[in-house]
Amino acid sequence: MSTAQLEHPTEAPLAEPQEAAPVRDDRRVAVISGGSRGLGRVLAEKLLADDWRVATFSRSANEFTAKTADYDPESFFWEAADLSDPQSMRAFVRQVSKRFGRIDLLVNNAGVLHQELFLTTTPRNIESLVTNNLIAPITLTQACARLMVRSGGGNVVNISSINAIRGYRGVAVYAAAKAGLDGFSRSLARELGAFNIRVNSLVPGFFDSDMTAEVTERNRDRIQHRTPLGRLGTVDEIADAVLFLTSPRAQFVTGQSLVIDGGITC
Ligand SMILES: NC(=O)c1ccc[n+]([C@@H]2O[C@H](COP(=O)([O-])OP(=O)(O)OC[C@H]3O[C@@H](n4cnc5c(N)ncnc54)[C@H](OP(=O)(O)O)[C@@H]3O)[C@@H](O)[C@H]2O)c1
Repeated sequence: MSTAQLEHPTEAPLAEPQEAAPVRDDRRVAVISGGSRGLGRVLAEKLLADDWRVATFSRSANEFTAKTADYDPESFFWEAADLSDPQSMRAFVRQVSKRFGRIDLLVNNAGVLHQELFLTTTPRNIESLVTNNLIAPITLTQACARLMVRSGGGNVVNISSINAIRGYRGVAVYAAAKAGLDGFSRSLARELGAFNIRVNSLVPGFFDSDMTAEVTERNRDRIQHRTPLGRLGTVDEIADAVLFLTSPRAQFVTGQSLVIDGGITC
């Protein structure tokens, strides 16, 4: 093609234009912290099945993240990042932006729980619980919300816990961090509503995952006994509640905490 043709693109093309390839770039993009196991993994699987692109991080890769990234790299992105390292999370969000160009949904899912009595909790453990369960989701939300504002809106779901709304022994600092996350959701919803971004907390009761694998039989029986529905939740049930909050069916819901706990807190 001559320089003149390049400068005057109205001139007749040399060949018939090819039929445009289907544009897949408009698929929605979800960022999930801790998508390698437990609730995060099930959410990633459900969103992928619903034609979302999913970006997730955890400290280590596993068979699920490696196989999914190999199988469909255009839809799934995993990178190592650590809740206790804000730079690693910001770098992760930069990679997501480069790769997928937008973020429509953030699920602040990853959380850390060590149960111990408050009077003997070390300053280091206090700091770690607050950093991982509260500062990290705040940091990640800021990085993702800036991209959501640019693309005209989005959705944030913070995974809290019934420990934020009821007292339990051995989890005082974890409970404080999760309650902080609920307060964060409410006030952020007020700030970001004008940018068409909804922010909600999901407040699960006990459900089966690695986090609850160490609950003793005795405590499990107690939990079931106190739960009107008589059992722990399943990870699918909790994931479905997240999907409800992110769906058009919840498009007028923001700044709320949705409790899903089989009734244990009622
Ligand atoms: N399970 C319950 O009964 C229950 C009840 C109420 C609320 N919750 C909340 O629900 C959420 C999900 O819980 P879950 O039971 O599904 O957890 P889980 O099975 O323990 O999975 C946690 C995920 O987060 C990642 N992760 C943990 N520490 C991390 C760190 N420092 N940096 C980056 N990633 C990290 C893990 O991968 P790596 O270990 O490789 O980093 C994993 O992918 C949490 O916020 C939890 O507090 C759970």
